[in-house]
Amino acid sequence: MINFHNQTNDLLTESTSNIFNNIETILVIDDSPTNLQVLHTTLENAGYEVIVEMDGNSGIEQVKNNPPDLILLDVMMPGIDGFETCRRLQANPSTQEIPIIFITALSDSVEKVKGLSLGAVDYITKPFNQKEVLARIKLHLKLRQLKLELDEQKQQLEQRVKERTAELSQALEELKKTQLQLVQTEKISFLGQLVTGVAHEVNNPVGFISTNLYHADHYIQDLINLVKLYQKKFPTPGYEIEDNIKTMDLEHVLQDLPKVISSMKLGTERIQGIMQSLRNFSRVDGEQKKAVDIHEGLETSLMILQHRFKALPKRPTINVIKEYGNLPKIKCYPVQLNQVFMNLISNAIDAIEEPIKDIETFSTASRRFGLIRIRTTIDKEQVTIQIYDNGMGISESVQSQIFQPFFTTKPEGKGSGLGLSISNQIITEKHGGTLQCISSLGNGTEFVIQIPLKS
Ligand SMILES: Nc1ncnc2c1ncn2[C@@H]1O[C@H](COP(=O)(O)OP(=O)(O)O)[C@@H](O)[C@H]1O
Ligand SMILES: [Mg+2]
Repeated sequence: MINFHNQTNDLLTESTSNIFNNIETILVIDDSPTNLQVLHTTLENAGYEVIVEMDGNSGIEQVKNNPPDLILLDVMMPGIDGFETCRRLQANPSTQEIPIIFITALSDSVEKVKGLSLGAVDYITKPFNQKEVLARIKLHLKLRQLKLELDEQKQQLEQRVKERTAELSQALEELKKTQLQLVQTEKISFLGQLVTGVAHEVNNPVGFISTNLYHADHYIQDLINLVKLYQKKFPTPGYEIEDNIKTMDLEHVLQDLPKVISSMKLGTERIQGIMQSLRNFSRVDGEQKKAVDIHEGLETSLMILQHRFKALPKRPTINVIKEYGNLPKIKCYPVQLNQVFMNLISNAIDAIEEPIKDIETFSTASRRFGLIRIRTTIDKEQVTIQIYDNGMGISESVQSQIFQPFFTTKPEGKGSGLGLSISNQIITEKHGGTLQCISSLGNGTEFVIQIPLKS
């Protein structure tokens, strides 16, 4: 590096005070001391900091160690020439942004064009016209400054867009979740109200049937006793009555009537039981967990879906196998858990109804009967509820999507695509548990619910 000292240096000339008020540095690479002297003086007088190098290699080295704001580059130099120097600077990402102005002879248009094609931004001609040289340098420094500012703004914008996109997708996720929760709460509260209403309406008439049955039972018992007393006192009541007794088969009636009554009592008790469990099943939960018998929820779910187990033309009866473990009462949100059972069992029924497509090798033997197996087990840490069906199974690609809200493979009107995502949310978020799907196409499906005991 050669230093030329110049006393008339005026650092505050307007031309050099860029918007950051930094002094701009210009590197001049030229092997001619005369050129260097002239340019150095001109540039320093104009307020620039000037560094000079006398060959391409030292120039490149200088740029790496101390990157200037602009380079003035001579073409003809010993060692690597200006074009090669330019090519190398352009090839390096860390130096390619620095504007290069070639120094050429006035007449040599081939050089000018070649320099520009190599990536130089401009050229100045020898002999130098001081004003022109300064004007060009000023222009390119300004352009470079603007470009840097633009780049920075672009980066800031891109960053901003990235942040906004992240915020928006976060918001969308939240919205989806809230929507799910709404649907879920709405459904539960609607079901709760419906069942409470129906149960109330049904309970009233069942109530007076059951009260009257109690009286009817007594009256009938009294009447039977009376008839028996008559028979005893009047063993020969005459032809007409004897004929009637025979026709109506009095003996049988007297024997059967109490049975009829007690069967009616049983029936009303059953209705009352069903109503009670429906009410428990859908009663709107408070925010508190309750200790409940999980099997009761499973039983009620099965009862509600009972009508769907019967044989249909397109599929056989569905057998339900229950392998219930010995469970204590489990602390949970019972209504929500029941909703999970309902979702999983009705999906299982749907799967058994679905004809198997795409699998020729699958033996139809195992489809001659429908099977749903519900197994419950418990260990120190958790309760496990497995719901297996021998339906069509789920392919791997479908499996990766089944927990997404609104994903369904069922025809419009049949599937909402919400069952599993709601169930998953209830199990994982509400109960801190897991909901797992084990399945392959043609081999049935098992959903495994695990709920930790301590939560
Ligand atoms: N037991 C199952 N067997 C086969 N496929 C199932 C089973 N359970 C769920 N699926 C698949 O997961 C999808 C999503 O289920 P779900 O969220 O309950 O929505 P929907 O039942 O309304 O379609 C179903 O459309 C079905 O493709
Ligand atoms: Mg479903």
